[in-house]
Amino acid sequence: MNGDEIRDLFIGYFEEKGHLHMPSASLIPAGDPTLLFTSAGMVPFKPFFTGEQTPPRVRMTSSQKSFRTTDIDEVGDHKHLTFFEMLGNFSIGDYFKEGAIEFAWELVTKKFGLDPDKLFVTIHLDDDDAFKIWRDQVGVPVERIYRYGDSDNWWGPAGNEGATGPCSEIHYDGGREKGCQDMVSPDDLTAILRADRDAGVKSGFPDVPGCHPNCDCERFVELWNLVFMQFYQDAQGTRVPLPAPSIDTGMGIERVAAVMQGVHDNYDTDTFRNLIAASESLTGVKAEGDRTASHRVIADHLRSTSFLMADGVLPSNEGRGYVLRRIIRRAIRHGHQLGATEPFLHKLVTSLVDQMGDAYPELAADQSRVEETLRLEGERFVDTLEQGIRILDQEISSLSGLVLAGDVAFRLYDTYGFPVDLTADYCREKGLTVDMAGFEQAMSEQRARARAASQFQMAETIEVSVDQSTTFSGYEELKGKATVLALLADGKEVQSLTSRQPAA
Ligand code: SER
Repeated sequence: MNGDEIRDLFIGYFEEKGHLHMPSASLIPAGDPTLLFTSAGMVPFKPFFTGEQTPPRVRMTSSQKSFRTTDIDEVGDHKHLTFFEMLGNFSIGDYFKEGAIEFAWELVTKKFGLDPDKLFVTIHLDDDDAFKIWRDQVGVPVERIYRYGDSDNWWGPAGNEGATGPCSEIHYDGGREKGCQDMVSPDDLTAILRADRDAGVKSGFPDVPGCHPNCDCERFVELWNLVFMQFYQDAQGTRVPLPAPSIDTGMGIERVAAVMQGVHDNYDTDTFRNLIAASESLTGVKAEGDRTASHRVIADHLRSTSFLMADGVLPSNEGRGYVLRRIIRRAIRHGHQLGATEPFLHKLVTSLVDQMGDAYPELAADQSRVEETLRLEGERFVDTLEQGIRILDQEISSLSGLVLAGDVAFRLYDTYGFPVDLTADYCREKGLTVDMAGFEQAMSEQRARARAASQFQMAETIEVSVDQSTTFSGYEELKGKATVLALLADGKEVQSLTSRQPAA
């Protein structure tokens, strides 16, 4: 099944079960000042969970464009992405744990046809209700039901306030050969995590004597997260019950596609394979060995930047635009690493539109604007990049330890415009780290200097013969007619000035 077929099957299944198909909302959350981007499928539904708005129907389903930078440093491995499509079903005070679990199990095992013996489930440490449903109603053997604490099985809120609750996940087992060691039993893991919690220590994964669904190794793929929304949490962290217990689920289409297509890697799925092939033919470099990660980063960042721009974000130096600019620059640096000395990202947009333009017509409609913006950003950044990397290479070759000094990273940023996250990326690939505290220190010293410099001496008020207010037209026009009202030199009004005479 390719991505389009998976999406159709998921949405169709929930439509049959009485859910209203809601279109994907913009990556810019509407009317939610607590979030910069739509980071999960439930974001457009936030006001429905809290009762602020009435939903068009109590059962809804969607395939939502989502963007997160939480794992950006991990992009390049086999599963992390900044942009993904999240399939979800939502119940606003209608069905709860039982309904959500039964739907999910039927869809995964009967419609997607995944082998139930390869599925593991996780629940919250205290969620005995979910445990009983999985064991008694669904029939999952207890050896495959694992309990975890808040860091893994409590979801939300999205942003600093909103709906939140315990969750239950379905994981796909790639097999013992993909794993690190034999499994720890659910009871042993529960005992360890409960003891950790009682002692106030964070999750003890490094000490767990065996593999388990949330292990860092590559054995398990998390397929689906079922959130049992029960509380509203405010910005101070206080929780009160929601108007009604509700359901929010999220299934990353790329991960299901990987499992359904028998590959263990998001980037080996149809959409990504085609994007990576386009990147290979443009750069002339095969996605093999240590080149693989750069092609993956380019494919992921091409998707995220193009979708952000199609939703109206433009590169800039602040807010959303700054995040976008940093991601574009990151992709350009990886292209440079593959030998691309000219701007290239814009040339890949056609392949993306071929892959995803049918499901997301806004992308196809905006293709030429997206291409043009990527081209301009590329042209603007290419010189900075070459210069920055040259300086960085010199600094690294004369480095004695494994840490690049913060003031070097700062000089690259301040004098040459080379972003510190690129410096950090570049260093990480060479087994080095950047002294970020030193960087921050140099940055705050610079800010203090800039503040001092801006407090220039105001001369005492100069009396001029003309007293007439002026209108600023610069917001509307770049050119305009004006009348010179006075000439000042050495703090005095004069009738004429020579070209080299310092003005007042
Ligand atoms: N909100 C949950 C998540 O993002 C489920 O949709 O994982």
